[in-house]
Amino acid sequence: MTPISLGIHGGAGRLGRRILALALEDTRFSLRGVIVRKGSAALGQDAGVLAGAKPMGLLATADARTLLHCDVVIDVSSPAAGAELAGLLAKGGAKALVTGTTGWTDVQDQALRQAAKDMAILLSGNFSLGVTALVHQVQEAAARLGPAWGVHIHDRHHSAKKDVPSGTALMLADAVMMGWDQSVTPKCLSLGRPLEEHPTRGEIIITADRVGEVVGTHNVMFYGAGETLCFTHTAQSRDIFAQGALHAAHWLYDKPPGLYGMEDVLS
Ligand SMILES: NC(=O)c1ccc[n+]([C@@H]2O[C@H](COP(=O)([O-])OP(=O)(O)OC[C@H]3O[C@@H](n4cnc5c(N)ncnc54)[C@H](OP(=O)(O)O)[C@@H]3O)[C@@H](O)[C@H]2O)c1
Repeated sequence: MTPISLGIHGGAGRLGRRILALALEDTRFSLRGVIVRKGSAALGQDAGVLAGAKPMGLLATADARTLLHCDVVIDVSSPAAGAELAGLLAKGGAKALVTGTTGWTDVQDQALRQAAKDMAILLSGNFSLGVTALVHQVQEAAARLGPAWGVHIHDRHHSAKKDVPSGTALMLADAVMMGWDQSVTPKCLSLGRPLEEHPTRGEIIITADRVGEVVGTHNVMFYGAGETLCFTHTAQSRDIFAQGALHAAHWLYDKPPGLYGMEDVLS
C-alpha cells in the first residue's frame, strides 16, 4: 500500500519531536513536511536530526503552505498557530488535519469548526487510549450518581506547560456535564491553589499544578454524602500521545469533511 503522506506542524516541540521520531519508523507514513515557528532555532534543521535520529534529507521550514499536499497533517503547536493553519489548509483544499493542541479560545475554536466544513478535522486534547476510556468512565459515573454529587478534577503537568487547566481537565469536566445532562460553569482555581473545601452538589472544581518534568496526571474525584469515588490516569511517557496522534492520522486521512474526536477513532 502507498504510504500516507504526513506533515507535522509544531515539529520542534516536546510532543512534535516524538511524533516525528515514531513517524519515521512507521511504514504506514511517508514524512513530507515539518513546520517550525518562524525564528525557531530548529528552522532549516534536518527532520531526522530533530527526531534524534540520522538525517533523512527533509528540512524543517516555517512555510505552512508546504503542508497543502500532504494526505494528513498533525498539529501540536499553539492555539493561535493551529487555528491559522486550519484556515490555510481548508482554503487550500487540504484533506485532513489532526490537532492535539490545547488552550483554544472561543474564537479559535470557531475557526476550527468553520474549517471542518471543508476538510476532516480531528480535535483531541488527549490522544491516549487510557484517557479516552477515562472520559467514558467519568461520564458513566456522573450519569449514575447524578448532580447530587460534587466533582473535583486535578491536573498535574510539567512546568513548561502553557495552558491552565489542561485540555484534558476540561474534557473531563465536559464528560461530567454530559453525564449529568446539564451545563455547569466549572470553577477553575488559580495555578497551585489547593482545594480548601470539597465541591458541593452539582459543583465542578478544577485545580492544577505544574511540577518539573511530569508528563501528565489527572484525578477525578466524585464527592457524595459520606462516600468518595476516585479515578486516576497517569501518562508515563509522551510516546502514548505520539502513538495516538499517528493512529488518529491513519484513521482520518480518507474521511469526509467534519469534526471528529478520539472516540470516533476508537469506536
Ligand atoms: N492531545 C494530546 O494528547 C497532547 C499531549 C501533550 C500535549 N498536548 C498539547 O500539544 C501542544 C504542544 O505541546 P508540547 O508539550 O509539545 O509544547 P511545546 O514543547 O511548547 O511545543 C510547541 C511547539 O510549537 C511551536 N510553534 C509555535 N508556534 C508555531 C508556528 N506558528 N508554527 C510552527 N510551530 C510553532 C513551538 O515553537 P517555539 O518553542 O519556538 O515557540 C514549539 O516548538 C500543547 O498545546 C499541549 O497542551 C496535547
